[in-house]
Amino acid sequence: MSTSIGRRLTTVRTHDGAGRAIATAYNQAGDKYLAYADGDPGQLYAFDGQYAHGDRCIWELLDTELQALRATGATSIRVLDLGCGPGTWLRRIVTRARALGFDSISARGFDIADTQVRRARELAADLSNLPGVHLSFEIGDIFEPLAEADASVDLCLCLCGVLNHIPTSSLSAVLAEIARVTAGCFVTTVRAAGSTPTVYVDAIEQARRFRQDNRTNRLDVEFQDGHRVSLNSHLFSAAELRSLVAPHLDIDDIRGLDLFHGRFAADPRWNPRDAETHSQFSGELDQLERTYCRDTEFIDHATHLLLVGRRRKALRVREQPKIFAIAPTPYRRGRAV
Ligand SMILES: C[S@@+](CC[C@H](N)C(=O)[O-])C[C@H]1O[C@@H](n2cnc3c(N)ncnc32)[C@H](O)[C@@H]1O
Repeated sequence: MSTSIGRRLTTVRTHDGAGRAIATAYNQAGDKYLAYADGDPGQLYAFDGQYAHGDRCIWELLDTELQALRATGATSIRVLDLGCGPGTWLRRIVTRARALGFDSISARGFDIADTQVRRARELAADLSNLPGVHLSFEIGDIFEPLAEADASVDLCLCLCGVLNHIPTSSLSAVLAEIARVTAGCFVTTVRAAGSTPTVYVDAIEQARRFRQDNRTNRLDVEFQDGHRVSLNSHLFSAAELRSLVAPHLDIDDIRGLDLFHGRFAADPRWNPRDAETHSQFSGELDQLERTYCRDTEFIDHATHLLLVGRRRKALRVREQPKIFAIAPTPYRRGRAV
């Protein structure tokens, strides 16, 4: 598949027809995907959509990573977002990184769906022109080797179900390439095996019927307007995700996101809402999630699994800059020996 956007011609060699089907589905969804996933694109930190709770947890984690890096004295940061969709996470990160005092921010997002990339560029136009900000969105396939150098990316993202679309036989190679470029932290979220149903590209109520087949890892959807999509959709268990990432990165954390809020929150879309009890109940759901998000009985019933990986400690130690280029000369009784 060869695709032209604006001034740039980018050739995307898809792994197989699966990539083309994914690109078509997210292209057809267009702006509806943005509205469904992120709500108002102008309200970067509102987190008030259907997946608000999980998104807020992801953001807390990313913000903590940004602050930790800044606290080391770093003033430059490099971020990569694989399967960036409409680019909301990178806009959040770049905006926050500037506020924290990073003066050189390099952020690249890529996605196989050109409509999503075009939207990401439009929404980020103002941000991309700011001094010290190098923010780009490109068409790209996760199966292609990454353009980034070894251990060059401080924060590497693959969020909200991108890996669910990758054939399981290719996941290890994709994760190895992610690990190659990641100097700092890798954050991914994937749909869990026991998550609430999803049709990925739009809200579930837009589907007239759908079928997720966990033997073939296929999701077939017929939408209310009659159009159909058939996508690769592999749902992960926490143990599987861990075993896939562990050969490539040290795993800091793996936990369930949104075990209870999506099902039980007092939200008029699926439950009665009583304004008085809403806030207290929401706090109680938060407490429940903190208690059970790493519990093996519960984790695979989360909406998403969140995994935080880091460059292998052994590699980090080996890659540390040499402070003494020349070994200090040992002295005995005031003279060199
Ligand atoms: C559920 S969306 C998530 C988008 C974004 N990460 C977010 O958090 O909103 C999944 C995205 O993965 C992209 N994607 C799927 N397979 C891909 C591939 N092989 N290479 C690049 N992007 C891919 C899709 O086009 C889609 O934009």
